[in-house]
Amino acid sequence: MVNAEIGVIGGSGFYSFLEDVSEIQVETPYGPPSDSLYLGELAGRQVAFLPRHGRSHTVPPHKINYRANLWALRSVGVRQVLGPCAVGGLRAEYGPGTLLVPDQLVDRTKARAQTFFDGEFLPGGPSQAGGSGGGSVPNVVHTTFADPYCPVGRSVALAAARGRDWEPVDGGTMVVIEGPRFSTRAESRWHAAAGWSVVGMTGHPEAVLARELGLCYTSMALVTDLDAGAETGEGVSHTEVLKVFGENVGRLREVLFDAVAALPATETRACLCTHAHDGWDLGIELP
Ligand code: ADE
Repeated sequence: MVNAEIGVIGGSGFYSFLEDVSEIQVETPYGPPSDSLYLGELAGRQVAFLPRHGRSHTVPPHKINYRANLWALRSVGVRQVLGPCAVGGLRAEYGPGTLLVPDQLVDRTKARAQTFFDGEFLPGGPSQAGGSGGGSVPNVVHTTFADPYCPVGRSVALAAARGRDWEPVDGGTMVVIEGPRFSTRAESRWHAAAGWSVVGMTGHPEAVLARELGLCYTSMALVTDLDAGAETGEGVSHTEVLKVFGENVGRLREVLFDAVAALPATETRACLCTHAHDGWDLGIELP
């Protein structure tokens, strides 16, 4: 069943995208996604929106079922994903309201299911056609991830932001922490000293799971605060994050509209995202 070609995963403060939508619930072998998928049309493109934390922000970053989210999107036909998220800035010049389109990622999470290929037999594997038993091929797969984001999606996102007079930061490293707490000042200073640009809680394993499913994934990081080491105040608060996100969500939505319209047609994708598993026998048909 193909209902959508482009997925948008909304983060903190971003719980809906299009107005005229149909809501569908998708079951996955990994359990339920964060919420229903909200399907709609924009500029002739079929879009599936998924609020990452649930529509009422009930799912914290470390409890998000990232595998179910990505699997659900792919199962309705999605092949390109835009992932806006709230982040803290690790440099003084990346203040609240900065839009950064990262090109690198550092994983500092601790306890998240971060692969579909965990050496077990995947649901839907060849010998599961009848609905029982495991697949015949153990799914040990090592995914190419040197460049975690889709280069085409990144260009599209950057151009869309510029088209709305919002000069984005082109590139930078997003470090992803386990959360749900914010960083200590020492951690924050360490992240900044390492040369990383922004810090968030949801960018991993979202990007790698997208890659494992052959999806193009583009992160769009909206800075909502200067992280603890970069400021002299009380430290980051969730209220501050939601307030700044709320102030910027309108223009972020407009940038996303333009980006959705400008993404290439699924069948003309020319990036390497779809080839991460060339040469591997996955032992399954992806959804
Ligand atoms: N999301 C928004 N601001 C953040 C911060 N400072 N650290 C981690 N995640 C965030």
